[in-house]
Amino acid sequence: MLKFPEGFLWGAATAAHQIEGNNVNSNWWVMEHAKDTTIVEPSGDAMDSYHRYPEDMKLLADAGLNSYRFSIEWARIEPERGFFSNAEIDHYRRMIDTAHELGLDPTVTLMHFTVPRWMYNDGFWRAKDAADLFARYTEKLLPILQDVKHVCTINEPNIAAMLAGGEDASNLVAYGLPNPDLGVADTLLESHRRSREVLSQISGLKSGWTVATQAFHSTGEPGADEMMREYGHPRDDWYLENVKGDDFVGVQAYTRTFIGPNGPLPVSEDVETTLTGWEFFPKALEMGVRSAWELTEGVPVFVTENGIATADDTRRIAYLDGALEGLHSAMQDGVEVLGYQHWSALDNYEWASGFRPTFGLIAVDRETFVRTPKPSLAYLGEIAKRNAL
Ligand code: NOJ
Repeated sequence: MLKFPEGFLWGAATAAHQIEGNNVNSNWWVMEHAKDTTIVEPSGDAMDSYHRYPEDMKLLADAGLNSYRFSIEWARIEPERGFFSNAEIDHYRRMIDTAHELGLDPTVTLMHFTVPRWMYNDGFWRAKDAADLFARYTEKLLPILQDVKHVCTINEPNIAAMLAGGEDASNLVAYGLPNPDLGVADTLLESHRRSREVLSQISGLKSGWTVATQAFHSTGEPGADEMMREYGHPRDDWYLENVKGDDFVGVQAYTRTFIGPNGPLPVSEDVETTLTGWEFFPKALEMGVRSAWELTEGVPVFVTENGIATADDTRRIAYLDGALEGLHSAMQDGVEVLGYQHWSALDNYEWASGFRPTFGLIAVDRETFVRTPKPSLAYLGEIAKRNAL
């Protein structure tokens, strides 16, 4: 038995736009409905979790999990610049209360890729006042975050920077594109710092941001190592070095990519792949966690996402085993880890790829919204109850 430390958080993660449905004031809704969009289908009702969150949370709690990561949708809180909806703030207060009542420690993300459409039109993460706007939004949420212990300010700033840089939705699924827009990166960093400062008014609240830790491997061919530097390290330095001073760093790890002399290679035909086309590579988690710990020089790690898209739940269970074994081994070597949150609680809207890649521990019928827990939910729940693998 591989024991985890007392108080370890076991949970699952989601993001508002991917599960709530009808997020009509967000930039993504606009992009999904644009005439020449590359997004395969619109999010529509998604999983209707805006209304069904109590049921979703209860399924997680009943299985034995003790934490739930979800995001607050800025587009709902501030549908017009400067107009804040008390009703929507209250909606998320009820979500936080429900999590507490069910014994789920809520991990709240403030920005998971989507922004209000006015913010997008007014310059998005290139706007001069973006950090002011994000700080003001954070301030408006302070009353409902008073008993929240973990807040993620910005989800995957490194992917958000690529997305805002390229304005191409397909970038979202193509992890590992070079040249993030560094102007955007700086603004995201400044926004994170300002938000963190606002959050520090709540004593006992821990904040951080969550980073996509793509595992890059050099093929070792001549020229491959130089390419590695272009693809891997500059970004590592930017997004991990800069979190020194955070209470935790969220690690999100899924797979690996090989880099040859001409850049990233397509996934080899000899390896098992998942519904996103990524290599089945559970060791990505251990690698992500170790490199985050090293590059931040000891900022505690929180695994805020890890999982696979598959229609074969036995592979999800196998992935979980491999990922958690690796996580445990990193912890044995001294890496401090607060918890593990699986991506995802529910099958959901995988951005530009639509609903086809199913990442959930719970299946959702898209017509009736009936939830059906998969065996992997019970499996993770048992691990949580034992606090051991
Ligand atoms: C990263 C993102 O945060 C999440 O929104 C996405 O669905 C998963 N990883 C899987 O691609």
